[in-house]
Amino acid sequence: MTTRVLDLDALDVEGRRVLVRADLNVPLESGRVGDDFRIRAALPTIQELRARGARVIVASHLGRPDGFDPSLSLAPVAERLGELGAFPTVLAGDVAGPRAQQAVADQGDAVVVLENTRFEPGETKNSPDLAGALAGLADLFVLDAFGSAHRAHASTVGVAERLRSAASPLVLDEIEALSRLLEGPDRPYVVVLGGAKVSSKLGVIRNLLPRVDAMLIGGGMCFTLLAAEGYPVGNSLVEEGMIGEVRDLLRAPDGGKILLPLDLVVADEFASDAEPRVVAARDVPDDAVGLDIGPETVRRFTGVIANAASVFWNGPMGVFEWPPFREGTAAVAAAIAKSEAFTVVGGGDSVAALGLLGIDEGISHISTGGGAGLEFLEGKVLPGLAVLERWADGA
Ligand code: 3PG
Repeated sequence: MTTRVLDLDALDVEGRRVLVRADLNVPLESGRVGDDFRIRAALPTIQELRARGARVIVASHLGRPDGFDPSLSLAPVAERLGELGAFPTVLAGDVAGPRAQQAVADQGDAVVVLENTRFEPGETKNSPDLAGALAGLADLFVLDAFGSAHRAHASTVGVAERLRSAASPLVLDEIEALSRLLEGPDRPYVVVLGGAKVSSKLGVIRNLLPRVDAMLIGGGMCFTLLAAEGYPVGNSLVEEGMIGEVRDLLRAPDGGKILLPLDLVVADEFASDAEPRVVAARDVPDDAVGLDIGPETVRRFTGVIANAASVFWNGPMGVFEWPPFREGTAAVAAAIAKSEAFTVVGGGDSVAALGLLGIDEGISHISTGGGAGLEFLEGKVLPGLAVLERWADGA
């Protein structure tokens, strides 16, 4: 995908108010920020703008609240942002109302963080009123939220229609890395997919299958594929409604590129302290639930990864949060980090797994996008990127 957008250098930011739409949608644990990868990823853009004399206002959503929900306030996120960036932050009391306007008027040297954009019902509807109110807070707009660029919301698209807008370096890096996987990646090109649901990955499987040399599938989603192949899956997670479509995909000409688990780690119940045992994929007992890929599958998958020249990974191989069911995800992550290939990891759970496993080098590009990265690789136009192009065209 060729995307013609302005970069930060094209904006004259000194002394101006710049609204940065970041993706600070991070996991919260007991009201505190859990994994802060996305907050750290947003820092360079905010810091560059501050260094160039801009007054920075940050907007983001957090979770999927239906209106105001104090448990999804951006307060802990604003606090962590200020700690990591070593700059003062002020949380506005609303998204773009009188309290946000006041916070911007009193801003001084602080970074103003607006409240969770999804507290406003107009956000997901891209309401002109909310987009106009957000635009009224600033002079310029920067899209940093690659992870939300697939959403046509007021804070991603509406505001970019109203203010001169640029893409941040993070967004440009994401476009470059993911485009490399779409347009002539070095071969062999291997895609590793996991996570709970095949329904959320069917589009990307369809678009990528003709382009890849092998697609390795583990995680909860593999059981729908195994069921479609007629394997017993016990009490494992299966999307019954998807079985027909998945079967067609497996039988299509490129279906042979899909490699499914040969063996699995199963347990009697879905519990962190359940007793793990290894069974062949053909022998999953009726009362068992699959929670990880097995050792033979690990050998096969890591062998394929070791021979790859390009790798994309999205979605864990099992319930990696629980130590007895972590091995598959850990082995795949280690193989990708060790590989000399061009490697891209995306999706919140895969990135969290890297963090949990202490893998912080050896990956060519760690994407901040989950669904956005998948839609990009599906070949879809992301509305948050498309709207930026009008400014490059001189709007
Ligand atoms: C994500 O976590 O993928 C992004 O922040 C988008 O969140 P959403 O799926 O709730 O729009």
